[in-house]
Amino acid sequence: MPGTCVVGLQWGDEAKGKIVDLLGDNFDIVVRYNGGANAGHTVVVNGRAFKLSLLPTGVIRPNVTSVIGNGVVVYPPRFLEEVDSLAKGGINLTGSLFLSDHAHVIFPYHMEEERLLESGTEGKIGTTGRGIGPCYQDKVGRRFAIRVGELCRPDHLRERLKFVVPFKNKLLGALGATKLFDASAIADEYLGYAERIRPFVRDTPRFLHESLAAGKRLIFEAAQGSLLDVDHGTFPFVTSSSSLPSGIWGGSGVPAKFVKRIIGVVKAYTSRVGQGPFPTELDNELGERIRQKGREFGTVTGRPRRVGWLDAVAVRYTAALAGADEITVMLLDVLSGVPELKLCTAYELDGERITHFPSDAYLLERCKPVYESVSGWSEDITAARKLSDLPPGARRYLDRVSELVGLKASVVSVGPDREQTIMV
Ligand code: GDP
Ligand code: IMO
Ligand code: MG
Repeated sequence: MPGTCVVGLQWGDEAKGKIVDLLGDNFDIVVRYNGGANAGHTVVVNGRAFKLSLLPTGVIRPNVTSVIGNGVVVYPPRFLEEVDSLAKGGINLTGSLFLSDHAHVIFPYHMEEERLLESGTEGKIGTTGRGIGPCYQDKVGRRFAIRVGELCRPDHLRERLKFVVPFKNKLLGALGATKLFDASAIADEYLGYAERIRPFVRDTPRFLHESLAAGKRLIFEAAQGSLLDVDHGTFPFVTSSSSLPSGIWGGSGVPAKFVKRIIGVVKAYTSRVGQGPFPTELDNELGERIRQKGREFGTVTGRPRRVGWLDAVAVRYTAALAGADEITVMLLDVLSGVPELKLCTAYELDGERITHFPSDAYLLERCKPVYESVSGWSEDITAARKLSDLPPGARRYLDRVSELVGLKASVVSVGPDREQTIMV
């Protein structure tokens, strides 16, 4: 049975969670394959808001099984916090949420390393502080990484930590840490988590292969956005994982040939959290208005998100990288009342006009956006449920976005609620 992927085509927070939730009923299994608790998805169902960070959005659909794939990095207390908070709200996930035994574990020393590296001004990336980068570094470096399966073997975990923690302390000391870690205290703490996590742990590639053979329908939920992808994003101002659909194979064990539909999620404007170039940024009063109206404050860190016009050069680039078949245009309602909207159609780089996206951050930094103006609309569109309910200005804007990106919009979102959606 062919799989579907929902992927963000900007710098994250495109409202991927809403799309995964909307489509949820058509799938048996939702799979996360990258990132960790740096992600933050808010999904609103009949006025009730669910905030998810590490768990796949599928967890709020009663008939869906959710999988945290091997490519995800897991902070156990966060995993348990989310499981507990959903249980309090009446959603019990035992038996319907599986965590890969090969996913890598985030420890407090990862967060401390990140804190020290991010505390200066030089080399700062503006990370979420969740230990994501240092954990992936350990994974690729191999020697000091610990996987979820290892948490479930107490003697082994103690031995591993006895080896790893002294090295980490040396590293942290060199970075200027005052607080060092004790291997046996961490082992005690994590063995406590392991007891509770054990029922969720699975050989997830095997589970997914068996599910495919049984004809189950899979949807893959990318965390972050394509411009944060470690290979193709605005390096070094990216995250440490593959947030494009290319991450699916490695991060879940499901070969690419099973993924037949790729849905690129696009915010009607652009937002970005953290450092790095952002050519269409609106660092002015209009930007503030959009930030307030779109409630553009990070779910994970509460940081105000930077906002700007939709950058069609960037989205064309990411749609091509992702192999997107269609786009969904989100938060269109936020642009109501802006008399003149702008779309970036090219850049000027050192006096030359270019229409491709230079993903090298140092080149992108020098790019000045070339805009095309589209007149806006003043009506509130949050009650629109079909395209014909939208004012002509909103339809013109959507048409132009589709034209510039080269893909049709299959969904238009006009409010946070599941109901506030136009299926095209
Ligand atoms: P994700 O990380 O891509 O899942 O996106 P986030 O959940 O971090 O950010 C999207 C935010 O926009 C959330 O707070 C959603 O509830 C909200 N949202 C989703 N769709 C719409 C929409 O069409 N209009 C408005 N105003 N808000 C929306
Ligand atoms: P969702 O899934 C927006 C950004 C951080 C920082 C950079 C690296 O909600 O779209 P990291 O902690 O990953 O090492 O930070 O990536 N970032 C996100 N921005 N949405 C996200 O996830 C993000 N996850 C990471 O702000 O700039
Ligand atoms: Mg988010």
